[in-house]
Amino acid sequence: MAIKCIGILTSGGDAPGMNAAIRAVTRTAIYNGYKVKGIMRGYHGLVTNEIVEFKSQSVSNIIQQGGTILKTARSKEFRTEEGRRQAYENMKAAGIDALVVIGGDGSLSGAQIFADEYDVPIVGLPGTIDNDLDGTDETIGYDTALNTIIDAVDKLRDTATSHERLFFVEVMGNTAGYLALNGAIASGAEAAIIPEMETEVDQLADLIHNGFRKSKNSAIVLVAENPATGGAMGLAQRIKKEFPEFDARVTILGHIQRGGSPTAKDRILASKMGAMAIEALSEGQRNVMIGIKNGELVYVPFKKAVAHTSHLNLKDDMEVVKILSM
Ligand code: F6P
Repeated sequence: MAIKCIGILTSGGDAPGMNAAIRAVTRTAIYNGYKVKGIMRGYHGLVTNEIVEFKSQSVSNIIQQGGTILKTARSKEFRTEEGRRQAYENMKAAGIDALVVIGGDGSLSGAQIFADEYDVPIVGLPGTIDNDLDGTDETIGYDTALNTIIDAVDKLRDTATSHERLFFVEVMGNTAGYLALNGAIASGAEAAIIPEMETEVDQLADLIHNGFRKSKNSAIVLVAENPATGGAMGLAQRIKKEFPEFDARVTILGHIQRGGSPTAKDRILASKMGAMAIEALSEGQRNVMIGIKNGELVYVPFKKAVAHTSHLNLKDDMEVVKILSM
């Protein structure tokens, strides 16, 4: 069946650059003769029928804004068969023939299930600060979040240096260590603690001791959030107990990492991927995410995108953090 009308939604955690993607999808679709409808609050709005007509002007003046004008949610209803049936009925009643879904692994897994059940053409865009999708070197929002992290660490370094302190800085990332590891490289941190690798508290303490001994007057350790270990708070408690000589503090960056105006890199990525999503649907592609590999836009099947095979160069990158902070 020929596609006439494309629905667009953002789902899961918001990420800077989602608006740039919404703008690119909408305008490329209209340019190519499609109608566009915006679905509010992700899959939740598809179930509850919050669907609005989108014109070219609906996406004016948003490329520079963080968050998402479509709002976002993590929908419980869409996880049920009944919810997805309702979503399909609403979608058809609104005349929507295909969907562009912008979100992270939960959103793309949901898209795969929906497409399997209802034969709906869906193209996904990787929108998450976590960078934890397979088949793409970067996700929309990751670069902005990294820049937010280095900005925060630069500021913390002033206090750390003045007081000769050790700071544990917790960053997001869901179950992945991309933000922590690359945030550590970019901010010149002394160490990165990531879920992909075991942490030896003794070795970490040695490294920090050595730094202070060599006349360093501060230490910053970036810690990926990790409910299993208690993240930065858990690690700081362990270190303080065994090594009370450290004047340690904890800073949790939290949702600050999700906000803010997207960087040029994220705006460009979102714009190109958004345009490509419409090209993909026009070509008859379905159930693929747009990824970027070595500078080239590529199609990645949803199943591969959410496989969670880390593409971190763990050993090499951890070594870089270590050598450069000596
Ligand atoms: O996926 C983005 C993310 O910010 C993760 O890094 C984090 O674990 C999670 O979302 C937090 O979710 P919420 O905003 O629902 O607390």
